[in-house]
Amino acid sequence: MPAPPISFARGAPALELIPAAELADCAHEVAKREGASVFAYGPGGGYAPLRDWIAERHGVSAERVVITVGGLQGFVFYAAEQLARQPGRVLVEGPSYDRPLKVLARDGAEIVALPMDDEGLDPDALAAELESRPDAPSFLYTIPTFQNPSGRTLSNDRRVRLVEIAREHSLAILEDDPYGLVRFEGETPASLLELEGGSLVTYTSSFSKTVAPGVRTGYFVLPEAEAASFEERAVSTYISPPFLPEAIVWEWISRGRFEPNLEHVRGELRARRDAMLAALAEGFSEAATWSNPEGGYFLWLDLAEVDAPALAARAEQAGVAIIPGPAFFPRGSGLGASSVRLAYSYETPERIAEGVGLLASLR
Ligand SMILES: Cc1ncc(COP(=O)(O)O)c(C=O)c1O
Repeated sequence: MPAPPISFARGAPALELIPAAELADCAHEVAKREGASVFAYGPGGGYAPLRDWIAERHGVSAERVVITVGGLQGFVFYAAEQLARQPGRVLVEGPSYDRPLKVLARDGAEIVALPMDDEGLDPDALAAELESRPDAPSFLYTIPTFQNPSGRTLSNDRRVRLVEIAREHSLAILEDDPYGLVRFEGETPASLLELEGGSLVTYTSSFSKTVAPGVRTGYFVLPEAEAASFEERAVSTYISPPFLPEAIVWEWISRGRFEPNLEHVRGELRARRDAMLAALAEGFSEAATWSNPEGGYFLWLDLAEVDAPALAARAEQAGVAIIPGPAFFPRGSGLGASSVRLAYSYETPERIAEGVGLLASLR
């Protein structure tokens, strides 16, 4: 049988990073211990012990936490709430995570991509955008740490400035942070939620990258005034979330497995990131530039003069899957044409070296 294609396309963990046997044991244990309640309808905001734990970690009341069926489901709720309150444009980083861009386009939002560099979103560009138009935007969607797709992290100074600008303009911000805990090195910066206090900033994260994506458990920390309507949206969409996976996550945490497993995941991903950086240095040298992430799943490759969609088509033929840059910008913007997102989360270091070598030979 031929080897499966080498995938740098999906932001998914390698299957060997998912602690399946132990999670199965957690599932069995909670199903036995909790009995029917874990298979019944329940509060729309999620499984209470996990909700309390999240609330304590963020120093907020449990009412402000809503556990969602993954972070993306929560994004759908948040965008719908904000766009109902304040229709119009949504500000995003350019590039940004492709799935929310599709959700926003479907919801009829005007998507404005703001420029970013190695220090993350450019706050001056944000201020200029806010001052250039009289209509207030609906919200700013930002992934400040180990951004999808670029792997970049917003610097501390820029975080402070961003919060100042948000206060000046009463700008609602959605801070999406599924990768922050997957840090290999360097200092952890303060979150926008911590800096702003949580009246304009809504914070979201997920257990997809810290436990397993299949538990489909994410969460939102909402401003006090917005938590109830967000939860009501969850209730009127799926009545109540699936409690079994949420209880599995809680059991995992209660057994003291969260931090040690995360440490293991960090080590594995660091080796994959290093393999990709080394292969890029060998195969691309002066012909390209790339980001240097201190954590997360992705890096961003800028290939001057190369048509990235055409390269992706050639790579597919050769057995390497990549996503070219235009997918991460608003449709029709013409941006990202010579860039590529590379995920190092899925393949082994050996296959990463092989795949990057192949890409370099195809450019
Ligand atoms: C930035 C970002 N936000 C949200 C998600 C959604 O994750 P999930 O729905 O699995 O929690 C992802 C997944 O890759 C992501 O990269």
